[in-house]
Amino acid sequence: MLHVVRQLLYFAALVTSVSAASADQWRGRSIYQIITDRYALPSGSDFNACDPKDQTWCGGTWNTIRENLDYIQNAGFTAIWISPVSQNYEGPRTAYGDAYHGYWIADVTKLNDRFGTSDDLKALSDELHRRGMYLMVDVVVNNVMATSTTPDLSTFLFQDESQYHTYCPIDWTNDTSIIDCWLGDTTVTLPDVNTQDPDVVSAYQSWITGLVQEYNIDGLRIDAAKHVNTDFWPKFCGAGGVFCIGEVFDDDVGQASQYQGTDALDSILNYPIYDALVSAFTIPGALNISALTDKVAQSQQMFKDTTLLGNFLEDQDVPRWGNLSVDPQSLYNAMVYNWMSDGIPILYYGQEQGFHGNSDPYNREPLWPSGYANTTAYQLVTKLNTFRNFLVNGTGDWATTKMEILTQSEYGLGFRKGNVVTVLTNIGSPPKDVTIAVYTPWEASTSTTEIISCEKYAVGSNGTIFVDYSAGGRPAVFMPDVLLNSSGVCGFEGPNQYVEPSSAAQAVSAAAAAPWARVVMGAVVGFVMAVSGVLVW
Ligand SMILES: *[C@@H]1O[C@H](CO)[C@@H](O)[C@H](O)[C@H]1NC(C)=O
Ligand SMILES: *[C@@H]1O[C@H](CO)[C@@H](O)[C@H](O)[C@H]1NC(C)=O
Ligand SMILES: *[C@@H]1O[C@H](CO)[C@@H](O)[C@H](O)[C@H]1NC(C)=O
Ligand SMILES: *[C@@H]1O[C@H](CO)[C@@H](O)[C@H](O)[C@H]1NC(C)=O
Ligand SMILES: *[C@@H]1O[C@H](CO)[C@@H](O)[C@H](O)[C@H]1NC(C)=O
Ligand SMILES: *[C@@H]1O[C@H](CO)[C@@H](O)[C@H](O)[C@H]1NC(C)=O
Ligand SMILES: *[C@@H]1O[C@H](CO)[C@@H](O)[C@H](O)[C@H]1NC(C)=O
Repeated sequence: MLHVVRQLLYFAALVTSVSAASADQWRGRSIYQIITDRYALPSGSDFNACDPKDQTWCGGTWNTIRENLDYIQNAGFTAIWISPVSQNYEGPRTAYGDAYHGYWIADVTKLNDRFGTSDDLKALSDELHRRGMYLMVDVVVNNVMATSTTPDLSTFLFQDESQYHTYCPIDWTNDTSIIDCWLGDTTVTLPDVNTQDPDVVSAYQSWITGLVQEYNIDGLRIDAAKHVNTDFWPKFCGAGGVFCIGEVFDDDVGQASQYQGTDALDSILNYPIYDALVSAFTIPGALNISALTDKVAQSQQMFKDTTLLGNFLEDQDVPRWGNLSVDPQSLYNAMVYNWMSDGIPILYYGQEQGFHGNSDPYNREPLWPSGYANTTAYQLVTKLNTFRNFLVNGTGDWATTKMEILTQSEYGLGFRKGNVVTVLTNIGSPPKDVTIAVYTPWEASTSTTEIISCEKYAVGSNGTIFVDYSAGGRPAVFMPDVLLNSSGVCGFEGPNQYVEPSSAAQAVSAAAAAPWARVVMGAVVGFVMAVSGVLVW
């Protein structure tokens, strides 16, 4: 009987959560990632009191996020991801500080009152939806947190020893161990919840159904997804009824791709491409463009759908891009990759302010000392979001169209996704007396705009566009002017506001009407160099 009731509740949940967002609806979004404690302070706070190395609470809340959403929405983001909302460890300070980040779970079913009340979280969700934005919440089910290998279970949701795997340190060469053994160390242990136990599975399902409904959540980011038996996910995400993107901290495409699909998760965070972007673009660095183009090829072959993966350059676990790379053009080129290639772009708060802390805890800087300034990176991401929102909206199939690498060299790559051609380089800021001839798919004398600089480029004979680096290694993104109407960039009028894609059919007919469509459909695209000085390509 209980089983029947549960099934009914589960079914009811699916029916009533139809407004919740699916993978398809997330594909065209762009996400701003927030550690709630570090995004904004209430007025009257001490704005000089937060040092990441202290590893303690600084005072950000769900209310202060809600009160400061303009900064995110003005940059064109259409979703936020917030750190976990569940109750955390509240015991004595540990060797790794306090649970300011939200990942040290005590009881998932209770809210963390450090960050506000149930009404505050609802108000944040309502305000996001009023603005047409989505809410993604970070959830941790793999583990709870303790300070010994024999914790007192009474503060946890699951209080029976059988609901945990027995303590063992992870042997990273053993897949069973990765799933069953405990993350953390013996100072701060992360007791591994037994997600094979049917009672645990059903308790987690009821919880996530309730959480998503109560707070009108649009998507879930799943912590440590690699450390849970994959068959847990379809049921859990089904109960949530929303898009799930998992943390699978693995740069190997063969391994990582196994976590995407109907028998696993909708999507994962794109660690393989993150790793490749570091190899390709950081200065100093390996400057290995093949590392990136190889990963793109492998990913398109092995992932079920690369256009759903979450692309990022920073997060709460890896060093800031600015800690790995000193040249700002390296950041700009890598950012453009994430917005113009396959996948959902994610920006970790502070990246737009040029933060440059190392890994945990130095990459969890407070945002307020930046003054939320209108920096070059903020302006770049605003432009990229505006343009991508337009592409997603105006050409219904842009987001699902797979990118194609057009050319590559030691110093850069060119690729096409739909009707947009992107040319990136790792040569950095110093000017180079170099001109690149790019064979675009477009007819001679087509007028195009490079949407970052807003410079006009006329297509020459044989479809060529010349890109020069006399102003340094800037990223370049081209689109024919005739397709830029209503884009809202570079003087083209536009609502500059995200709208759900209507239908692919509309976009296809619009493209078919364009004079150069014949060329786009037919041409094989290639690049050559026309070098005047240093050989870069
Ligand atoms: C792998 O790890 C599991 C869980 O700790 C353990 O039971 C098993 O013996 C390990 N296998 C090998 C080959 O070490
Ligand atoms: C670049 O990365 C590829 C992996 O895709 C690797 O095979 C190659 O050895 C790397 N090249 C250098 C110079 O490190
Ligand atoms: C990297 O981060 C560490 C710690 O935050 C800092 O001391 C160092 O200066 C940073 N390096 C760069 C290049 O920013
Ligand atoms: C940031 O600066 C740019 C360039 O001056 C300007 O166009 C834009 O409106 C500014 N954005 C904000 C949010 O102030
Ligand atoms: C999205 O498409 C609709 C209908 O075609 C249009 O009215 C709206 O202005 C577009 N928005 C953007 C950002 O292009
Ligand atoms: C875009 O705008 C230009 C100038 O207003 C116009 O000539 C052209 O027909 C428009 N293109 C489309 C596809 O609407
Ligand atoms: C014209 O472009 C194609 C690639 O589209 C290229 O293979 C060919 O060499 C080019 N011809 C000339 C004369 O540049």
